[in-house]
Amino acid sequence: DTIINLEGKQKVADAIAAKVKDGDILGVGSGSTVYVALLAIAKRIKEEQLTIKAIPTSIEISLFCSKLGIPLTTLYENKPDWLFDGADEVDPKHSLIKGRGGAMFKEKLLISSSPVNYIIIDDSKQVKKLGTNFPVPIEVFPAALLHVEDELRKIGATSLLIRPAKGKDGPIITENGNMVLDAHFDDIDDDMEIKIKSITGVIESGLFINYNVDILMA
Ligand code: A5P
Repeated sequence: DTIINLEGKQKVADAIAAKVKDGDILGVGSGSTVYVALLAIAKRIKEEQLTIKAIPTSIEISLFCSKLGIPLTTLYENKPDWLFDGADEVDPKHSLIKGRGGAMFKEKLLISSSPVNYIIIDDSKQVKKLGTNFPVPIEVFPAALLHVEDELRKIGATSLLIRPAKGKDGPIITENGNMVLDAHFDDIDDDMEIKIKSITGVIESGLFINYNVDILMA
């Protein structure tokens, strides 16, 4: 793992764009820092006539890539050569909380499929302990909600909130047709990701413990 200190989001975005090589398949995460990086990449594609393809992690990012003229592909057809994404919290061991945008299932699928992963953050995302500023988002199959809540309490969840939708009544429904539970834990140990994932009805969580990531800091 490396930490590269840079002054602002634009510099991080330019640093990401500079890594793009002709023919690359890029995994593209979510969030505002990813947006800025995509703008910088689109500029290079245009100026240097690069042929790259992006595998997006959300409808939002698919739309943005299409607007920028960046061709899309899928995990059915391609594996990413490398990936860039944001994060909500990063601890000293570079474990992460992600999923503020609700796309953590695809984000984790892509990170797991990619050999090289750059996480772009500003210093507000650095925490001593995961769970300091953000809950752990957990994508749950709707009919499993009560069971999952019970099991999460057993492994130490102190509060559980069904994430509400914006602009509509009721809960958020993810792109995979599921709900998101935001869970607080007093202590997130190294096994917590596995413990959460082993509950039947949990699709995925936003805990990324000990993944192979390089942190680029704005
Ligand atoms: C999306 O689900 C999250 O994992 C994002 O990566 C995170 O919220 C980062 O967003 P910003 O770059 O806007 O901080």
